Amino acid sequence: MTEEPSVPANYTANLFDLKGRVAVVTGAGSGLGAAIAMGYGQLGVTVIVADINLAGAEATRKTIEDQGGTAVVRELDVTKRAACFALAETAKSEFGHVDILVNSAGSAFRSPAEEFPEDKFNFILDLNLKGTYYCCQAFGRLMLAQGKGSIINIASIGSFVGYPWASAYLASKGGVLQITKGLALEWRDRGVRVNGIGPTLMESPLTKMAATSSSITADFIKARMLRPRLGLPRELVGTAVFLASDASELVTGHVVMCDDGYLTA
Ligand SMILES: NC(=O)c1ccc[n+]([C@@H]2O[C@H](COP(=O)([O-])OP(=O)(O)OC[C@H]3O[C@@H](n4cnc5c(N)ncnc54)[C@H](O)[C@@H]3O)[C@@H](O)[C@H]2O)c1
Repeated sequence: MTEEPSVPANYTANLFDLKGRVAVVTGAGSGLGAAIAMGYGQLGVTVIVADINLAGAEATRKTIEDQGGTAVVRELDVTKRAACFALAETAKSEFGHVDILVNSAGSAFRSPAEEFPEDKFNFILDLNLKGTYYCCQAFGRLMLAQGKGSIINIASIGSFVGYPWASAYLASKGGVLQITKGLALEWRDRGVRVNGIGPTLMESPLTKMAATSSSITADFIKARMLRPRLGLPRELVGTAVFLASDASELVTGHVVMCDDGYLTA
């Protein structure tokens, strides 16, 4: 009798297969979320492009469809908990299931800590941390009921290290790291995996916007980069595919760094 090979024939053929899955990508109207949404669209995922910016969301939807994929736009303000739950409800009734959630909606505000305006501090925490949490809750419940799902939170090198004039952002991204671990632990034996992606400084509208208000933060980070080049949004797509797919079945509670080695130095 021949023994079953530990890797059966054709095992890897479907490991990264996402065809037929449904993904909600928040902040998909711009930057990193848009790139991940497009990447999923190319793999046959039905993408729910969720953003407060409808024009940006519409542009992402159009690109996905022009490239042969399927996408719908849904207006979402992630800082409104009820809106996150409402979107989870309508997504379930429209598509039957949601398999992937990417939390990419986020922003930054630059200020010295001793002068950081209270309203801006609250704005960043509400958007980056609480918005991520609300979506995890809303879609996590749905995924727990399905017994399967993958949540991917866009964290940052700022989840692990500091840089100047970014105290609210650092607090929010440190929180995103801890939410990722906490929820992964709570949900690990019920089929729902929760991971993160930790990008380096990337080329996106957000970094352009932040650079016009002050380059203090970006200059500090650039001086510590191992090579002087910003990441490109498409360079996150492979990791987003891996974390969404069955290839990462045993991976939960981790932030996969796409930082060009930034944290190694
Ligand atoms: N760009 C970088 O260098 C970098 C590095 C590390 C992490 N990140 C993180 O990646 C994520 C995406 O950043 P980006 O560079 O693509 O920024 P971006 O500004 O290009 O895109 C952010 C998107 O979020 C949307 N958004 C803002 N408020 C929202 C709300 N209340 N509800 C729903 N959508 C909302 C915006 O409309 C926009 O489409 C953020 O969480 C950011 O912190 C970015």
